[in-house]
Amino acid sequence: MKCVLDDFLDKVICGDSAEVLKNIPDNSVDFILTSPPYDNLRSYKGFVFDFETIAKELQRVLKNGGVLVWIVGDATINGSETLSSFRQALFFQSIGLNCHDTMIYQKNNFSNPSQTRYHQIFEYMFVFSKGKPKTFNPIKDRKNIYVGYSTLGENTTRKADGGFSKNGKRTIQEYGMRYNIWKGNTAGQENMCKHIAHPAQFPLWLARDNIISWTNENDVVLDPFMGGGTTGCACKELGRHFIGIEIEPTYCQLSTERIQNHKCCAPELPLK
Ligand SMILES: C[S@@+](CC[C@H](N)C(=O)[O-])C[C@H]1O[C@@H](n2cnc3c(N)ncnc32)[C@H](O)[C@@H]1O
Repeated sequence: MKCVLDDFLDKVICGDSAEVLKNIPDNSVDFILTSPPYDNLRSYKGFVFDFETIAKELQRVLKNGGVLVWIVGDATINGSETLSSFRQALFFQSIGLNCHDTMIYQKNNFSNPSQTRYHQIFEYMFVFSKGKPKTFNPIKDRKNIYVGYSTLGENTTRKADGGFSKNGKRTIQEYGMRYNIWKGNTAGQENMCKHIAHPAQFPLWLARDNIISWTNENDVVLDPFMGGGTTGCACKELGRHFIGIEIEPTYCQLSTERIQNHKCCAPELPLK
């Protein structure tokens, strides 16, 4: 029987993404937000994942203009970073996705102190798009110290012929657009003194801010590695539909219950 998108909405489906994704219709998902298992940094009870099959399925189910945010880091094995993240990024590009941006999620702390190099505090957030992104709601929460002043010189843009077009002076707004390095608490810091049942959750703010940036209300957000259900919680706060896929049955149950019980409301962001 052919599946329709409604069959998957607002559920965590328990199974291997390489198989489950095959049932999701082409060009049906507005946004994919995920953090895959990377380089066996943490053991997810022995599950491995078939990256290339899943990547091709993600490309197929994404709508034209849809965006995929792939949050990933690399393990260090025998003294060398694996660079799997880059290999994955190049593979996404080779199957037709644009690398729209390479962003950084900078953590407010580090998990493993390093003795021979600087402490590792970030993961990549590769932003891929299928064609030109159809939605971009930039978060403007970077306080401008020169608020109210007008720019000094003429604001210019370079034209294709090398000349400049003049855009006139601007008055500096209270908030400017965020840069592409996002710094904030880890899931552990967000839930200080609470037990987190999944070993590798990303923080709720990171899911929320990505969803705000790349989707509108009622859009469909897919997380093919649902883990503890953070993407689903953020979707519930923001009025988006989610589709979660998770291979480990205890995490399927954990994420389903977490999303059901999730009541927190997103804080007001200065989105101007
Ligand atoms: C990094 S965690 C995701 C955490 C999630 N972002 C959160 O905030 O809770 C990756 C998850 O992918 C799951 N996983 C591994 N292989 C999978 C596969 N082939 N299909 C679906 N899920 C898989 C693991 O069990 C693990 O829970």
